[in-house]
Amino acid sequence: MTSDLQPTLNVQTAIEQRRAARSFRPDTIPEAILTEIFRLGVRSPSGYNLQPWRFVVVREAANREKLKACAFNQRQVGEAPLILICCGDRRINQKEYIESVIQLGQEAGAMNDAYADTLRSAVPQLFENKPCFDSIEAWTNHHTMLAVAHLNRSIP
Ligand SMILES: Cc1cc2nc3c(=O)[nH]c(=O)nc-3n(C[C@H](O)[C@H](O)[C@H](O)COP(=O)(O)O)c2cc1C
Repeated sequence: MTSDLQPTLNVQTAIEQRRAARSFRPDTIPEAILTEIFRLGVRSPSGYNLQPWRFVVVREAANREKLKACAFNQRQVGEAPLILICCGDRRINQKEYIESVIQLGQEAGAMNDAYADTLRSAVPQLFENKPCFDSIEAWTNHHTMLAVAHLNRSIP
């Protein structure tokens, strides 16, 4: 599936050539490319591997127009064939969320019982004490921005 989607730019060139795009062709983004962008983007690091980013894909022209109104009426927001709304999930300190992360880790063979218990006690404490950030929104937003940076130009 991904063999024909291998990037042709190295990291140095990709960074040098990156620009904030403000004009877009109307071409549909192939599903395989979108899937590959997400596959790479969600490899972004996160505290306790909580992966708090969520993405809403907006394709409908009418919905893109509504988003444009929320984005200072910037032309490119209505013009791009596809928009991602990038969100932080504020449920990360809840028991159900932590258990879902533990389960994913177990399924990947990357979670032992001791670390699962560490997560169960440390994560709620982190968001109660907030040693280095103002709010759960700030923490999830920082992480979402990291993931967005990983989405950027994953495929040339
Ligand atoms: C957090 C953030 C928000 C931005 N918001 C907008 C925006 O609303 N509209 C826009 O045209 N560019 C936006 N930009 C792009 C910057 O204007 C752009 O990165 C900067 O001018 C440097 O240009 P370059 O990215 O092409 O090197 C944003 C960039 C960042 C990092």
